[in-house]
Amino acid sequence: MNTEIHPMHKIRIAIMVSGHGRGSNMQALINGCHTGMINGEVALVIGTRSDAPAIQRAKESSVDTRIISPNRHPDDNSYGQAIMEALDSKKIDLVCLAGFMRYLPSCVVRKYAGKIMNVHPALLPFFGGKGMYGEHVHQAVVASGMRVSGCTVHFVDEDYDNGPIILQTPVPVYPEDTPETLAARVLEKEHSSYVEAVRLYSLGMLKIKNGKVFLCNDNSEE
Ligand code: GAR
Repeated sequence: MNTEIHPMHKIRIAIMVSGHGRGSNMQALINGCHTGMINGEVALVIGTRSDAPAIQRAKESSVDTRIISPNRHPDDNSYGQAIMEALDSKKIDLVCLAGFMRYLPSCVVRKYAGKIMNVHPALLPFFGGKGMYGEHVHQAVVASGMRVSGCTVHFVDEDYDNGPIILQTPVPVYPEDTPETLAARVLEKEHSSYVEAVRLYSLGMLKIKNGKVFLCNDNSEE
């Protein structure tokens, strides 16, 4: 993935959530656009279930929503085609996974290479991969005895919780922490970190080279 980004205007963002997603990261990104922190607008929220709280919240923020359920498609490719049609129809520049606990079809990842971000509630590459999402991550961190956790915002590639890391924010883990207390501490950092990563992207300040993310001020070669 070698990608340079030169946005001339507000970027158009799609947010993807799955299942009964609560949508707090989605809301942070919507707010980040409204306050002008992010040079962009959330043009679409794609969910897998119409009764998800995230879909309700998106509607309350007057954001267009689309329900695309993998269960209504015979295979990954057909599911991916439906996602791409929705993204293309809204001329989306950046896709933000926010509580999207599924494998994103490869055809989508390939077409939008360098244009898909994810937030993960741990410091990748630790506590990531298949089955490591949401509360499972915090349970594993607390059980491990690690004294530091945090969140990671990264570009998405074809592997679970993989791809060039944009930024990571650590938080302490205390001996008395439960998965719930740790999750709350991490979630607060997810919101600010995700907004910051998308802000940098929206200003054309992120460049991917040789699997690493470089910060650049003027789009010139580093
Ligand atoms: C967040 O903690 C996010 O990091 C996690 O799901 C939660 C969604 O919360 N995502 C993953 O674990 C992906 N591997 P939200 O719906 O309130 O944003």
